[in-house]
Amino acid sequence: MSYLTWTLLAMLCCISTIDGETNARNNELDLVRDERFLLDDVTFHDPQAYVSTGSLTFKNRTFYLDGQPIRILSGSIHYFRVPEYYWRDRLLKMKAGGLNSIQMKFIQLAHNVGLHVIFRPGPYICGEWDLGGLPSLELQSNGIEEMFFTSDGYYNDIDTGMDRAPFYKEALPTANFDKLSQGIELFRKIANLSQDFPLMVTEYWAGWFDQWGGKHQIYDIQDHETTVSALLKTGASMNFYMYHGGTNFGFTSGANWILDTSTYVSDVTSYDYDAPLSEAGDMTLKYNSTRNLIQSLVLSMLPLNQHIN
Ligand SMILES: *[C@@H]1O[C@H](CO)[C@@H](O)[C@H](O)[C@H]1NC(C)=O
Ligand SMILES: *[C@@H]1O[C@H](CO)[C@@H](O)[C@H](O)[C@H]1NC(C)=O
Ligand SMILES: *[C@@H]1O[C@H](CO)[C@@H](O)[C@H](O)[C@H]1NC(C)=O
Repeated sequence: MSYLTWTLLAMLCCISTIDGETNARNNELDLVRDERFLLDDVTFHDPQAYVSTGSLTFKNRTFYLDGQPIRILSGSIHYFRVPEYYWRDRLLKMKAGGLNSIQMKFIQLAHNVGLHVIFRPGPYICGEWDLGGLPSLELQSNGIEEMFFTSDGYYNDIDTGMDRAPFYKEALPTANFDKLSQGIELFRKIANLSQDFPLMVTEYWAGWFDQWGGKHQIYDIQDHETTVSALLKTGASMNFYMYHGGTNFGFTSGANWILDTSTYVSDVTSYDYDAPLSEAGDMTLKYNSTRNLIQSLVLSMLPLNQHIN
């Protein structure tokens, strides 16, 4: 994965910090409150850690875009799972939901709507899709020299993953998770690599995909709210995977190989993902609650009424 920024419209963003007075009653929030102290105790140990030199940089656990601090609030949407006719509608809904970035293509449209773009170059982007992504040579031919970040190699592998994949010398390490307790372990590992690395969850799984013969996957709204509000309070940057899943058209549904049981499981046509925007692009209860959390914890005013060209 790499990060391509568009420095076009100034986006609403702010750096929020943990609320010291939080009266968190539940364990998840307690974990985050503890994490503040754990991070203070972390001693970074690698003087060779990656340094960004593009317009997006970082220092002291904060991202900067053209010198201004930025908190990345992004959502994943795959252009190949949404008819082009609806792209603009979906991007506007994402922006109205409080995001300032999207992950994937739509570059010109994102520019018009006023969103930054996280660019995932091929030849492989996961996402229940064969290969995928944009040709990495586009990065060169367009002279793009933005910072890279990756969540490869260590998600779900708290014990050994990060030690086996020292990408942090070439790309900013980030984490993928849905459970906060797991995320905190990964964040602690990342914080330990450099005192400058900002914390980012690249795939916060707001839901999950469905497989033939299985139940429709639901990521409970209460758990979602607990995790998102705790994450927003830590000051971490995040990308919702998916923010809008859409549809696997034609024969593109794909399949998974389940390692534990050595079984082949095909995915269904719907890639609804129990995401904030439904397969049909409708704003769900999860959309409303996510937007409200961003509004109350990060932004004072969301760009609902902003004029968009
Ligand atoms: C880094 O950020 C922390 C927390 O915002 C702040 O207390 C500290 O002074 C900063 N350190 C430097 C060197 O800027
Ligand atoms: C931080 O890094 C040090 C030095 O490599 C290591 O001993 C320690 O276990 C690490 N701590 C965490 C929380 O990963
Ligand atoms: C989301 O909020 C809007 C505006 O308050 C409301 O009209 C809509 O019914 C809500 N949607 C759901 C699914 O609750």
